[in-house]
Amino acid sequence: MNPIALELNNAIAAANPHVLEMLSTLGREMYMPKGILTQAAEAKQHAHRYDATIGTAMEHGQAMNLPSVMASLKGLSPNDALLYAPAPGLMALRQEWQRKTLVDNPDLQGKPMSLPVVTNGLTHGLSLVGDLFVEPGDVVLVPDMMWENYHLIFAVGRQAQLRQFPFFKGNGLNLDGFRKALNEICAERGKVVVLMNFPNNPTGYAPSESEAREIAAALRAAAAGGANVVALVDDAYFGLFFEEQVLKRSIFGQLAGAHPRLLAIKADAATKEAYVWGLRIGFLAFSTGGTAASDSPLYQALEKKVAGCIRAAVSNCSQLSQKVVLEALRHPDFMAQRSAKAAVLQARAAKVKEVLAQDRFDEAWTPYPFNSGYFMCLRLKRVNAEALRQHLLKAYGIGVIANNDTDIRIAFSCLELDQISDLFELLLKAWRDLAAA
Ligand SMILES: Cc1ncc(COP(=O)(O)O)c(C=O)c1O
Repeated sequence: MNPIALELNNAIAAANPHVLEMLSTLGREMYMPKGILTQAAEAKQHAHRYDATIGTAMEHGQAMNLPSVMASLKGLSPNDALLYAPAPGLMALRQEWQRKTLVDNPDLQGKPMSLPVVTNGLTHGLSLVGDLFVEPGDVVLVPDMMWENYHLIFAVGRQAQLRQFPFFKGNGLNLDGFRKALNEICAERGKVVVLMNFPNNPTGYAPSESEAREIAAALRAAAAGGANVVALVDDAYFGLFFEEQVLKRSIFGQLAGAHPRLLAIKADAATKEAYVWGLRIGFLAFSTGGTAASDSPLYQALEKKVAGCIRAAVSNCSQLSQKVVLEALRHPDFMAQRSAKAAVLQARAAKVKEVLAQDRFDEAWTPYPFNSGYFMCLRLKRVNAEALRQHLLKAYGIGVIANNDTDIRIAFSCLELDQISDLFELLLKAWRDLAAA
């Protein structure tokens, strides 16, 4: 093993040996080399005369550039727009995102937590967690209604077993099913990776305060019972909480610092929170219980392992995107602008509920519970979901997602308020076409 990796592992083990146990083989071997990047960083500080370290091209103190490129980047200097960012991301952005996270989640104040590392969107963050914490054969606990990409990331990409539990029971979460699956996995394997995504894709459901407390309590109990618990929180749709009783903070706050055997990982992103999907800016942050304070070598070691993984795969994430997000976060109106857009989506969700409250639709489907996020799902009666999807597309020019044989997902986030009623009318018409056939 590389001596730097060994050094990082020793720092982790000294602070919390359970976290070392949770790492995959790759996770244990990963490190951030002290090569070109470290030497270039040193040169940035001390090379007063000439800096001939890094593989960029400079001219007159700025990144060499083509006017044809800069023409699309008005208002930005070539250095800001074009140079490389550090592998773990721009320090100012990492600090600003952490500040925002603490404003959004006051219950995280005073709890131990790493500085977030910048990832290439949330997908990349999840994939990094897979690299570092999932060994082939490990079990990842997910609901039966989940973002399909989890399969590719963890089952295909890391050869993990995805264990599903039924997400809903009646009008709420199936907490008994969750606890049962969790306890079975812990008893079988002594390690579990639990993937939580609230607001959930595809259902648009986020837990109530009491449901979230129960989930967190079950995870803490599993850790207290002797299992190593990697609690991965996918906060992609954070902030889009539309109903009174919904937990309006990340469940990460209830897991952070909770138990030495519980490693909480917050994967979140500017992607949806700042409405910048294609800019590809996400974040990964860690928290565990025990003695590790926020400035613990444990977190620094984990950050370096993440940085090493980033270095190995994409080297670093777009500096241009990072600068754009950083400036937005620093803007005095950022929070107000974000709330205004959330209110637009909230009005759409309310309209969907109002339309679906009509008895006429009962013959065709049952809506699953939803209270947050971008989506809602319908459980179809009698008609196959894929057949309906195809028919909607061909006969009505309407696109929806078929999740499986029975369920379709509707992204009301993409619909204007005045299109919602019409969409469901046409959906019913299309359903009747097929039900009558
Ligand atoms: C639940 C969930 N997690 C993660 C992502 C990925 O986000 P990003 O575009 O930042 O990679 C999505 C995007 O659809 C999602 O629905």
